[in-house]
Amino acid sequence: MKKKGYVIANWKMNPDTVADAKELFFDIKSVVGRLKNLNVVIAPPIIFLAELRRLYSGRQLEFGAQNISFEEKGSFTGETSAKMARSIGTTYVIVGHSERRLMGETDKDVNKKIVAALLQKFTIVLCIGEKERDSQGSYLSFLEEELRSALTGVSKKSLKHILIAYEPIWAIGKTGKEAMSPRDVHETSLFLHKILMQIYDRKSAFAVPILYGGSVEPENNEELLHGGGISGFLVGHASLETSSFLSILKTSNNFFGNS
Ligand code: PGA
Repeated sequence: MKKKGYVIANWKMNPDTVADAKELFFDIKSVVGRLKNLNVVIAPPIIFLAELRRLYSGRQLEFGAQNISFEEKGSFTGETSAKMARSIGTTYVIVGHSERRLMGETDKDVNKKIVAALLQKFTIVLCIGEKERDSQGSYLSFLEEELRSALTGVSKKSLKHILIAYEPIWAIGKTGKEAMSPRDVHETSLFLHKILMQIYDRKSAFAVPILYGGSVEPENNEELLHGGGISGFLVGHASLETSSFLSILKTSNNFFGNS
């Protein structure tokens, strides 16, 4: 059977109102039924999630939380537990996004969040990425460390519930021209699969989908798919603009239909 690709929309702290969120959601909903070769996931702010979830009864589109707490319950003001997010029909969760790491999330926290998410049977989008690419290649050991630490104690069986979003921090939130080159994306995804192979085994390692994120736009998504050796995208700013996002969905659906 052909493998489906992934396009995951990370809305971050956007849009401003629930009315705007609904508008964006309806635009996506209207096309999603035709995208047979894709797993399409939207990750709106958690405060809009339950409302949007209620407006959808199909199966093609899934919903993701942008973050969860690793704590189970209790006195953690402002936090959302994995169980709470699951109870409103969320099936994916983004863990370890660089913007959360910038707010103080450590490698250890990321690992604990993965453990909490696995307990609630989430599909986890684990984000990793280097701040800069130095000519000595020390970014590779940085990526290896982020990956190994996030997966500490995660069994081979649980690996089936994890996707990796490789997002070089220097390429996030820019214009499409500043995204990483497909060739570099390909090299990095091979490197990450190799590390997974060292931790687990070849078969389980290569079964882990690696997505790319960082200024994915209509202008560059096709070449990234053709040359990047990836299973899809985590899309930030372009997922907030209907025409851009629909274009990325269409191109990706065609690519995975033919690959
Ligand atoms: P961007 O964001 O597409 O705006 O670069 C990607 C992300 O941070 O997930």
